[in-house]
Amino acid sequence: MLRETTVGVDDLILPLFVVPGRGVRNEVGAMPGVFQESVDAIVDSVARAADVGIPAVLLFGIPEAKDPTGSHAWDDDGVVQQAVRAIKEAQGDQVMVITDVCLCEYTDHGHCGVIHDGDVANDPTCGLLVKEALSHARAGADIVAPSDMMDGRVGAIRSALDEADFSDLPIMSYAAKFCSAFYGPFREAAESTPQFGDRRTYQMDPANGLEALREVALDLEEGADIVIVKPALPYLDVVQRVKAEFECPVAAYQVSGEYSMIKAASANGWIDEERAVAESLTSIKRAGADMIITYYAVDVASSA
Ligand code: PBG
Repeated sequence: MLRETTVGVDDLILPLFVVPGRGVRNEVGAMPGVFQESVDAIVDSVARAADVGIPAVLLFGIPEAKDPTGSHAWDDDGVVQQAVRAIKEAQGDQVMVITDVCLCEYTDHGHCGVIHDGDVANDPTCGLLVKEALSHARAGADIVAPSDMMDGRVGAIRSALDEADFSDLPIMSYAAKFCSAFYGPFREAAESTPQFGDRRTYQMDPANGLEALREVALDLEEGADIVIVKPALPYLDVVQRVKAEFECPVAAYQVSGEYSMIKAASANGWIDEERAVAESLTSIKRAGADMIITYYAVDVASSA
């Protein structure tokens, strides 16, 4: 009766990794219980998630081939586009399909944009992200989620969607995305480790809280409907400040490293997995998140 914070199944978003092929289900080494799956296997995973009441999934695509511009990202027949169509056909409106809009899974150098003179070029990248978002929209995505951190991409995607008759399609933007060591295991899952340098020129300095608020303000001005803070647990103050400052839905991403730390410690018998997960997710909600993107979504929903 007196408990102030609850984590509900309907707060959870499950990330999934789509790869080419059929019948593929490869476990990610650093993320036990998380798989790279072909479209047919993804459809089964989404059905299991829907059965336990999870309202939304977030899709990442790993293409057959990578190139300097990440051109498979906007291929209408790409893995994500195929997965969106297959999930929508199987589940209808039962599950919302959110697509990650970024180039790092699709570029051969692993950066989130095109490279000019050894660095990611902001504006040309925005143009490619627009093509990717439109392709996801045509496939039937319910929400697009740009995760690259280029300046101006939310506005560019918003006007392109509006012009193409997708004015109702919401944008969930990774507004405050920090340059974090906690993405390590994801880069194995998405095969997106940068081949040179790091992402410090476009992701945020972990020391900056006010900058996070400026990034969120910009994305909202440009038309974002939901903003994401990422990672979650090391940035609960940012979640709280964003929620206090802006009247918009806030999502927090419990990222791969947060997942793997709990998994590894519990595999060693050093920590009680279920309690550690419940406590982490409750803290994220208590800080002010309306929804949580978590690889633990199905486990939590199944034990609820
Ligand atoms: C990149 C992207 C990343 C994650 C989601 N989208 C990784 C990165 O920036 O390297 C990380 C998610 C996780 O660690 O679980 N577009």
